[in-house]
Amino acid sequence: MGCVGVVGAGTMGAGIAQIAALGGYETRLHDPVPEALQAANDRLHRALAKGATKGLWSEEEADLAGARVGAAKSIGDLAECHLVIEAAPEDLELKRDLFASLAAACKPGAILASNTSSLPVTAIAAEVPGRERVVGMHFFNPPALMKLVEVVATADSSAEALDTTVEVGTRMGRTPIRAKDSPGFIANRLARPFTLESLRMLEQGVADAETIDRVCRAGGGFRMGPFELIDLIGLDVNLSVARSFYAQGGEPERWRPSAIQEELVAAGHLGRKSGRGFYDYSDPPSPGSAVPSHQLARQGGGEPGGMTLDPAALAAIDPAAPAILPRLVAQIANEAAFALEEEVGSPADMNTAMRLGFNWPRGPLELTELIGAERAVTILEELRALHGEAYAPAPRLATSANR
Ligand SMILES: NC(=O)c1ccc[n+]([C@@H]2O[C@H](COP(=O)([O-])OP(=O)(O)OC[C@H]3O[C@@H](n4cnc5c(N)ncnc54)[C@H](O)[C@@H]3O)[C@@H](O)[C@H]2O)c1
Repeated sequence: MGCVGVVGAGTMGAGIAQIAALGGYETRLHDPVPEALQAANDRLHRALAKGATKGLWSEEEADLAGARVGAAKSIGDLAECHLVIEAAPEDLELKRDLFASLAAACKPGAILASNTSSLPVTAIAAEVPGRERVVGMHFFNPPALMKLVEVVATADSSAEALDTTVEVGTRMGRTPIRAKDSPGFIANRLARPFTLESLRMLEQGVADAETIDRVCRAGGGFRMGPFELIDLIGLDVNLSVARSFYAQGGEPERWRPSAIQEELVAAGHLGRKSGRGFYDYSDPPSPGSAVPSHQLARQGGGEPGGMTLDPAALAAIDPAAPAILPRLVAQIANEAAFALEEEVGSPADMNTAMRLGFNWPRGPLELTELIGAERAVTILEELRALHGEAYAPAPRLATSANR
């Protein structure tokens, strides 16, 4: 295995090509837009040089990696690649066409991998001759910094293709985990409750956004609160992720998108990029608006991993904290239990996914242990009685709690 192709030289593609070259692979980068290809190539070489000045790798390594990268003017130029990673726009028809072209251009044994975040890899692979060589290879943004890569298996992916993809991911300096082709794979799925349950707490009047954020940081050891995170990602982007999960999951109550978020997006409050989301980023802030989060963000940051679920310790952080953090953790434990039931991945990979993909202080199964199945189910059943099926405990969690 010596040559890696990368198709789509945008935000993700350039970074993926960079780490492939640093991993020692001859790397061929393709984009149908010549300007995009040129810009990605320039960005990649700048990043290699910058990494050398920062001591991330030597100048010699940067030069060698840079020399391994070549532009592929057409898909046909990827014919010698052993693995091609597709990082083209998130559009099913476009990806299906692209995979048909890749299958025709590449050798029969070449692995074809998609970096899709939200489309079923099985649907992308549907028309590809030799579907056993199609896998998901889901990197995180920015690929050169984020250590996680999810290697996604469709029902048809061969063990050989998956093992080779794990091996390549490792040589690219990432930590590969294995996931089943299912909505959002592991990391994005297990991250759902962090924002969704926080939005519900806001809707139900448990606390305001600023308080929930502060409690998550100070009590939970999360680096960012859920509302700061949504403002950073963009409310529209987070909402479209929520809608995609809801649709793909068969509209389960616990994945129902938030009405508050729908309203804010409709009003054009998209987060940092629009100057206003859950916080106001205009300078000076508009009268009556929440305190800008960039002034708040570093206050009350807990030690990484320093989570407490003890009601008295939580109350010392904020009077509302005992009503916030335990239910958030109960929903995280619940989603992890549903995911385990559906055999989406192993417990160890689930913990790795959230630590590396989202910088969580602890993985979801570690959080389950911390709260205990019994307490989690008690919290969920109480909330279910008040607010309905969004809080129905996963059978697996209920069983662990001896219910
Ligand atoms: N941006 C992220 O945070 C992120 C994270 C993980 C995964 N992803 C996934 O990675 C993929 C790419 O996302 P991105 O953010 O890099 O997008 P982007 O828009 O930055 O880049 C896409 C590139 O693909 C090129 N392109 C357009 N049509 C093409 C075609 N037919 N064939 C090949 N290339 C084509 C475009 O010119 C562009 O350079 C998507 O599937 C996305 O879901 C994105």
